Amino acid sequence: QKRIKIKDLLLSKEFGSEVNVKGWVRTKRGNKQINFVALNDGSTIQNLQIVVDVPNFNEDLLKKITTGAAISIDGEIMESQGSGQSVELKATHIDVLGVADPDKYPLQPKKHSLEFLREKAHLRFRTNTFSAVFRIRHAMAYAVHEFFNKKGFYYMHTPLITGSDAEGAGEMFRVSTLDPKNPPLNEDGSINYKEDFFGKETNLTVSGQLEGELGAMALGEIYTFGPTFRAENSNTTRHLAEFWMIEPEMAFYDITDNMDLAEEFLKYMIKYALDNCMDDLKFLSQRLQEEEKGKKAEDRSMELIEKLKFVLENDFVRLTYTEAIEILRNSKPNKKKKFQYLINEWGADLQSEHERYLVEKKFEKPVILIDYPKDIKAFYMKQNEDGKTVAAMDILFPGIGEIIGGSQREEDLDKLLTRMKEMNVPADEMDWYLDTRRFGSATHSGFGLGFERMMLFVTGMGNIRDVIPFPRAPKNAEF
Ligand code: 4AD
Ligand code: MG
Repeated sequence: QKRIKIKDLLLSKEFGSEVNVKGWVRTKRGNKQINFVALNDGSTIQNLQIVVDVPNFNEDLLKKITTGAAISIDGEIMESQGSGQSVELKATHIDVLGVADPDKYPLQPKKHSLEFLREKAHLRFRTNTFSAVFRIRHAMAYAVHEFFNKKGFYYMHTPLITGSDAEGAGEMFRVSTLDPKNPPLNEDGSINYKEDFFGKETNLTVSGQLEGELGAMALGEIYTFGPTFRAENSNTTRHLAEFWMIEPEMAFYDITDNMDLAEEFLKYMIKYALDNCMDDLKFLSQRLQEEEKGKKAEDRSMELIEKLKFVLENDFVRLTYTEAIEILRNSKPNKKKKFQYLINEWGADLQSEHERYLVEKKFEKPVILIDYPKDIKAFYMKQNEDGKTVAAMDILFPGIGEIIGGSQREEDLDKLLTRMKEMNVPADEMDWYLDTRRFGSATHSGFGLGFERMMLFVTGMGNIRDVIPFPRAPKNAEF
């Protein structure tokens, strides 16, 4: 028999014809006469109902059909009598491909908590929630390439092992070929890390931006999409040590063009999810609503699909950092003292509670903040006329906080050099970067979208470790 995927079978109207399906058993129920097996093969959130006439099959074989087992069924496509699905499969032949001993298999037919599943991370793909999340992740990755390809951007691969610190924040994982038993030493006896990578000090990249700029200043418009690494020991629901970032970089774009592109891009991804992942989104939305059942109406979040549509249909709010500080200064601290919105000092970085106040309470929409104080932003950002701020932009999303960080880049060689000196960025090691400003410099801009933060928003999941297949975070690196 020819194998058919469950997703395609459920759309089939060829009642009476014989097909083969293969998949993993989710549940089995029934009696001495008839069994119903819910089978999933990963092609869709929906299970296929297999109808088994018990007397026609070997008793030992049927015993092996337990949650988690892999089976192959030849059967006849039937119109389903029950509610829910239109199609079921009446088994004519069953093979058990791989058993899953119910006394040992960690996943039960019942619902498991996300915490429990994080402990069993190697098996969590087999649950409805995680298979839905990872199907959506696949679709979102595809949407990224589709969006930029349609716009004529080139996909550029930037190095993962690099000698520079693109963000100048010092949050890097060292890459080393040194022999720990016999490292090269400096004169004072300390280890000479300059020898790290066959004679050069290297680290895992925190961002592909600087290399992306080289590409943009020749190819016009490029984007990167790859893993990036941050050695920050932050145990939060929004940070990973290894995350995927999308970084477009565009020649001849100013900060306004940059904002326009970012807003269009985010909306494109959301629309793509709504157009292509509705079954999975509905499942995740229902899951969320069940989770929130206990909560008071005012504490419940907006229904997932409504929330996605809302963001799609509304313009993002755009304002400057200075305007945001004014708003925060004039805000009243929350009575429950859950949040302290007040911020007094111009120049301080916004804390996540400030960001959430702006997007969730004040505007109830995504917000693009621009023109940040130069001292809290990276060296490469374009300095504004006021001498105090830079043409930075952060996009803040409800429930997430910062989802995008970007800027117009400083194109003037002298200004850039002065700033690098002030911020202790080693200009002498970055001639390759500075040549973009020495030869044929021009206005250019770009931004970085944290792919997993976008995944949090689209799936409604609450912890960033649940939207990447193999999270890397403190105490999370067993495979
Ligand atoms: O704001 P960041 O640090 O900006 C850059 O790296 C720039 N070079 C981007 C550019 O202009 N090309 O990071 C960009 C985004 C953040 O807005 C956030 O969404 C995500 O990357 N991000 C993280 N996501 C998960 N875990 C972490 N530890 C993250 N750090 C940043
Ligand atoms: Mg940032």
